[in-house]
Amino acid sequence: MNIAVFGTGAVGQIISEKLVELGHTVVIGTRNVADTLARTKPDGFGRPAFGEWHKTHPAVRFDTYDKAAASATIIINATNGSGTLPALAQAHPKNLAGKILLDISNPLDHSQGFPPTLFVSNTDSLAEQIQRTYPDLKVVKSLNTMTAFVMVNPALLAGHHHVFMSGNDPAAKASVKELLSSFGWPLQDIIDLGDITTARGTEQLLPIWIRLWGALKTPIFNFSIALGKAG
Ligand SMILES: NC(=O)c1ccc[n+]([C@@H]2O[C@H](COP(=O)([O-])OP(=O)(O)OC[C@H]3O[C@@H](n4cnc5c(N)ncnc54)[C@H](OP(=O)(O)O)[C@@H]3O)[C@@H](O)[C@H]2O)c1
Repeated sequence: MNIAVFGTGAVGQIISEKLVELGHTVVIGTRNVADTLARTKPDGFGRPAFGEWHKTHPAVRFDTYDKAAASATIIINATNGSGTLPALAQAHPKNLAGKILLDISNPLDHSQGFPPTLFVSNTDSLAEQIQRTYPDLKVVKSLNTMTAFVMVNPALLAGHHHVFMSGNDPAAKASVKELLSSFGWPLQDIIDLGDITTARGTEQLLPIWIRLWGALKTPIFNFSIALGKAG
C-alpha cells in the first residue's frame, strides 16, 4: 500500500520503520523538508534527529504534507495534537477526500510544562474535530493509548492487552484492523468502541496513561481489559 505518515517525531519514525519492514511504500509528511532535515537535536526519547534517522532509512520518502498525502491511499496522523489541524490544512482537502486517516494523535497541551493537560473537554475529541473539519475523510482513531514501541510490537508485553478503535466508517475500520493485525495485534485484542465520538474515551485516557508512566518508570506498558460474568 502507499501510506503517508504525517509526523517526524518518534511515532512517525517507528511506525514508518514497521511499515517499510512490512513492504509498504512509505512517505513521511512534514511542514518544511529543509528545516526538518536540518534538525540536529535528538528528540525527547533520545532518538536521533530526523535528518540522522532519515539517512539510515532511505526507503522512506520525505515530503511536505500535501505532496505526501497526494500519493497515499491511507494517511497515518502522528503529528502533535496542537499541530494536527494545521498539518491537515497544509495537506489540502483535495488530497484528503475519500481517504482513510488513522489518527494516533493526542490533544495534549504542553504549554504549562509537564504533565501536559488536554485541550479538549470530555464532550469533544480531536478525532471528532478532524472528522467535522473534513467530512470526506474516513477518520479512525486508534493506537493513541500506548507508546510507539508497543503500537508496532504488541508482543513486547506478555499476555492479552488491548488496542481501541473509533470511527464512523466500517470499511475504514476493517482496513485499520488489517493493518493492526499485520503489526502483530491479535484480532480479539482490538476493541471496536463504536463511532468517532467514542474517541473521547481514549483521548481522555491520556491523563492516567501519563501518571502510570511516572509511577511505573517505563512507557512499556498497556491497558488490559478483563472480562467477567455478572452475578
Ligand atoms: N510518543 C509516543 O509514544 C506517543 C504515543 C501515543 C500517541 N502519541 C501521539 O502521537 C503524536 C506524535 O507524537 P511524537 O512524540 O511522535 O511527536 P510530536 O513531537 O508530538 O509531533 C511531531 C510532529 O508534529 C508536527 N507538528 C507540530 N506542530 C505542528 C504544526 N503547527 N503544524 C503542522 N505540524 C506540526 C511536526 O511537524 P514537523 O515535522 O514539520 O516538525 C512533527 O511532524 C502526538 O499527537 C502524540 O500525542 C505519541
